[in-house]
Order: sequence, then C-alpha cells, then structure tokens
Amino acid sequence: MVNWNSPSSNLTSKCRQAFKQMNNDPLKQRISHYQQRIEKALDQWLPSPLTHPTRLHEAMRYAVLNGGKRIRPILTYATGEALNIPLENLDGIASAVEIIHSYSLVHDDLPAMDDDDLRRGVATCHTAFDEATAILAGDALQALSFYVITHDQKLAVDHSVRLQIIEKLALACGSRGMAGGQAIDLSSVGQTLNVMQLEDMHIHKTGALIRASISLAALAAPNPDANELVSLDHFGKCIGLAFQIHDDILDEISDTETLGKTHGTDRAKNKPTYPSIVGLQVSKQRTQDLYQEAIESLQSLGSRNTEYLHYIAELIVKRNH
Ligand code: IPE
Ligand code: IPE
Ligand code: MG
Ligand code: MG
Ligand code: MG
Repeated sequence: MVNWNSPSSNLTSKCRQAFKQMNNDPLKQRISHYQQRIEKALDQWLPSPLTHPTRLHEAMRYAVLNGGKRIRPILTYATGEALNIPLENLDGIASAVEIIHSYSLVHDDLPAMDDDDLRRGVATCHTAFDEATAILAGDALQALSFYVITHDQKLAVDHSVRLQIIEKLALACGSRGMAGGQAIDLSSVGQTLNVMQLEDMHIHKTGALIRASISLAALAAPNPDANELVSLDHFGKCIGLAFQIHDDILDEISDTETLGKTHGTDRAKNKPTYPSIVGLQVSKQRTQDLYQEAIESLQSLGSRNTEYLHYIAELIVKRNH
C-alpha cells in the first residue's frame, strides 16, 4: 500500500543494513500495515453517512477517506514502536492527527484560501459538495478529532496525560500552530519573505501538526525518558519543516497526475515558497540537512527500534507526491 516513491537507493546505513538482513522489504510492509490500520480506525471514528445530517457526514467521510498518504499516523505508530507502545493504544491519536490534517486540507483548498479543485487525485471537498458544506465538514472534523482523544478507550493513559495530549493537539492546530501558520501564509501572498520568515511560516502551518504526531504518541509511553522525548520532538521539528520544503519543491518540479493536486499553483498564486526564494538547489540541500539533523537526533534513543522513524523520514524527503 505504500504508494509513493520508496527510497530503495541511497539509504542511511542503518536502513540499508535492515534491508540486507531481510528478503522482502519489511520496512515497507510495516508502513503498509500502519496505513491499513489507520484506514480502518478512521472509518470507525467517522460518522455513518446514513445518519442525519447525511450530506455533512458524507462530506466528512469524503474529505478523510480519499487516499491520503497517512504520513502523520505513520509517524505516530513509528514513534510507538520506538517507545514500546502497543499500536492499538495509538489508533486514537493517529486518527485524531489525520482528521485534523484532513480538515486543514478542506479549508486550505477553499476559494478563500488556495482555491484548488483537485486533492488526492479527486475533486476537492467544496467542489464535490459545496463551499458551505466544506466549511462545516472542516469544523466538524476538527471537533471530531478532540472527541476521539477524549473517548478513545484503548488509549491507556490516566486523565492528566489525556489532558496533556488534548492541550498539545490544541496548541498544534490553533493560532499558535497550524491555523496561525495558515494566516501567515495568506498574508504573505505577493511578499518576499526572508528565509527565517519563510521557515517560521512552514514550521507553523505544517510542522506543528507533524511534530505533534510524534510528541502525542510519546506522551502515551508508559515510562517516558525526558531526554528521549526531547530528541523525538527535535526529530519531529526537523522532519516537519523538511516536509513542507519538499512539498514546495514538488509543486515546482512534479506534475498534476503524480501529485494528485494541481502542479504549479504556488507560483501561479504568487506564494512565497522555498524554491521561489532560494532556488531549487538550495531548497533540496536544506531538506537533506534537516533530514540528517532529524536522523542524528534519533541517535540518542540508543538501542530503541527507530528504524521505522528512519524509513518514514526518508520517504518524507524523497517522495514524489
Ligand atoms: C499536504 O500534506 C499538505 C501539506 C501540509 C503540505 P500531505 O502531502 O501529507 O497530503 P496527503 O494527506 O497525503 O494528501
Ligand atoms: C497546506 O500547505 C498546509 C495546511 C493545510 C495546513 P499547502 O497549501 O502548501 O498544501 P497543498 O500544497 O495545497 O497540499
Ligand atoms: Mg495553502
Ligand atoms: Mg494549498
Ligand atoms: Mg503546497
């Protein structure tokens, strides 16, 4: 099911060793297992399209169950494997971050924001339904995400930790996180940002939720080690920024069919992006440097099983969509 450009060449030595030891690409299989797991969990949390109000419920399901790569849930599960957390304990957190992400895409595509028609290879939510329904679907998805964290019986943490998870998620998607980053994005159209301003925008609009996908899982660890949590958080910060720089690069160099969204829209809309400000070469180098920094950060987890985090980090900077 891993359907984006797998990094089979140029792997880090740890990944390459893992590949050599086993015949059948076990890392890929594991990622595929996470993807299947999250599809099932999302399907179960989303309201039935047969219940009232049916059109809104259909739009919510359409926005989430339409073939995303599920990178954020994969990061959540991979963090769980590193910290010995059973995957079933993390289905709720993984669902919550993907539901928030899917809502953010619905709103990001609206005419008032990026005004896009194509998402994940199909019509955007407001195009398939209508603008008002898409706005409400986004609103309801955001609320559903917090409902999931509150009600998930398999999340084996006490109430105070559950509250911390809710708080972290709220910060990651609110005005000091994703929504704030989107506000910066909108107010930056036609502006020339410097690299610091650009990274600040990317860290907020995209990095905050990716970082939370990892740190929320870490909160569910039975005996968390403070140093390990700091290292994982740094890994999330680096890979979250790398993710958006790579997204900017793909908007320039890929094509609509591969991307599943219209290529070249950033330039057409005069958005400040990494390549538009520093060029493609420097942008690519920056993703490589951030990837290296992320991997180095994992080293302090010593003998923990971080190979899935390594692998997904590579996918993030090498993916073709
Ligand atoms: C796209 O995210 C939006 C950004 C934050 C850049 P993804 O590339 O993870 O999109 P899906 O979920 O796979 O469609
Ligand atoms: C989207 O960034 C960030 C969020 C949805 C929070 P982009 O606008 O670059 O995402 P795409 O390229 O439309 O997927
Ligand atoms: Mg946008
Ligand atoms: Mg967009
Ligand atoms: Mg983009």
